[in-house]
Amino acid sequence: MKNGNSFENVKCKKIFSIMSDKKYERMLFRRRFCKRIIFMLVGFSLSFFGSIIMFGELKSPRILQLIELSRCPACYGVSVCPEIYSNQILLESEYSWTRMFNAKNIYYGFTKSNRKVVLKKLSHSWELKEFDSKLCQTWGLKKNCKPTDLLAVKGVDEKIKSLVAYNLSVPETKPRKGLVYCPYSYSIHSLLLPVFSAQQTDYRSDIINIWTMLSINPEPIIIQAIPKSKGWRVPAFGGVCGRVELVAYEGEPLSSLMHVAWSRKLKFAAEILSAAMDFTFKHDRFRFYLMDWSIDNIVANEIDQVTFIDLEDVIVVDKHISPKKNLPHWYKRYSRQINGSGFTFSISDMCKHHLSDHNLWAACYVLVGDENPLLYPMPKHVNVTRPDFAILLDQCLYGSDRFRTVPKLQTVVNDMLADERIVGFGGHR
Ligand SMILES: Nc1ncnc2c1ncn2[C@@H]1O[C@H](COP(=O)(O)OP(=O)(O)OP(=O)(O)O)[C@@H](O)[C@H]1O
Ligand SMILES: [Mg+2]
Repeated sequence: MKNGNSFENVKCKKIFSIMSDKKYERMLFRRRFCKRIIFMLVGFSLSFFGSIIMFGELKSPRILQLIELSRCPACYGVSVCPEIYSNQILLESEYSWTRMFNAKNIYYGFTKSNRKVVLKKLSHSWELKEFDSKLCQTWGLKKNCKPTDLLAVKGVDEKIKSLVAYNLSVPETKPRKGLVYCPYSYSIHSLLLPVFSAQQTDYRSDIINIWTMLSINPEPIIIQAIPKSKGWRVPAFGGVCGRVELVAYEGEPLSSLMHVAWSRKLKFAAEILSAAMDFTFKHDRFRFYLMDWSIDNIVANEIDQVTFIDLEDVIVVDKHISPKKNLPHWYKRYSRQINGSGFTFSISDMCKHHLSDHNLWAACYVLVGDENPLLYPMPKHVNVTRPDFAILLDQCLYGSDRFRTVPKLQTVVNDMLADERIVGFGGHR
């Protein structure tokens, strides 16, 4: 019995040890599993909160939070607020994650009629914070002033004039952002007229809105001065509400269309050249010289129409002035003389002449310049069939009379777009 017992004991111990081995293994497995989960959770939380700390607060990007209406009249206006407040415009995804990764403050949405729109805060969040922190001081108000206190301030017209003015006698050395209105800033009111008539609120808040846009980003002013409805290649303007501008979605940036067929790029080229001529010649009173010709800032839609979507840095030259002594060369044309690589320009020269070829050169620089040239590489058969094309492009970049070269270039491009040997059957006309 004893023997039998001890045998059973041994058996029991073996079974027990097998069981505890299995338990131990399971325990180990569970522990490893838990460790992994904890590790993943910690990693996720770190990146989650890290991105919040880096890019913005922990708020859902609902449209009402974006517009910051409480900052008015230190905002862009209220023209499209009724539509936004009655849910006529919806963000692409109401609780989207993009806020945290959207340092540029660009949001996409749809109207009730299913038209795609872009909501632009027109500035990075840190720039807006900086602007707000200086607001009271700028207007000589008490430290903890409220935005509505701005409605009583004096000297807004003067502040606006000095914001857009360019010093003709001492050229500025640091890079200039925003709107420059020259040669004399006293006539800026003429450029602002379309904005006043569109706002339809009271003059005091309109003028503070205009000062705010000129201080942060003048894009809504430019888009209203040269509206898409009159054929300008700028986004259709939906309106402003608080610190948000609403514009139509006008297509994809050329920087993400570099892979498309060369014949399509040629169509874009025709549009870019026409836009350059329009910005220079189309307005009765002003010339608009664009300062940022990056291919991120030019978009094209599905029917190859091109739109200039970033109108933050623009020089507006008033053609209807009587030049004083400080403008001895006003009636002469200015041709870009800066040689050397890269996108460079002289605001001073543009402001001192009634006509400059800046836009024409910039357009050719987008097509065949040093940085991401749209038309390169050029197909071999194009070089063979249209050798004049390359010559004209070269004259546009380096020649002295772009006012003669660009119209010729436009004619050649239009001929090429109708030429089956170049664009394939059907042409583009
Ligand atoms: N009307 C529009 N239609 C289509 N896309 C748009 C439009 N407006 C803006 N975008 C998209 O948003 C991007 C950023 O817009 P925009 O250039 O105005 O902002 P930004 O903050 O000034 O950028 P950056 O200063 O870096 O040029 C554009 O490159 C484009 O892809
Ligand atoms: Mg841009």
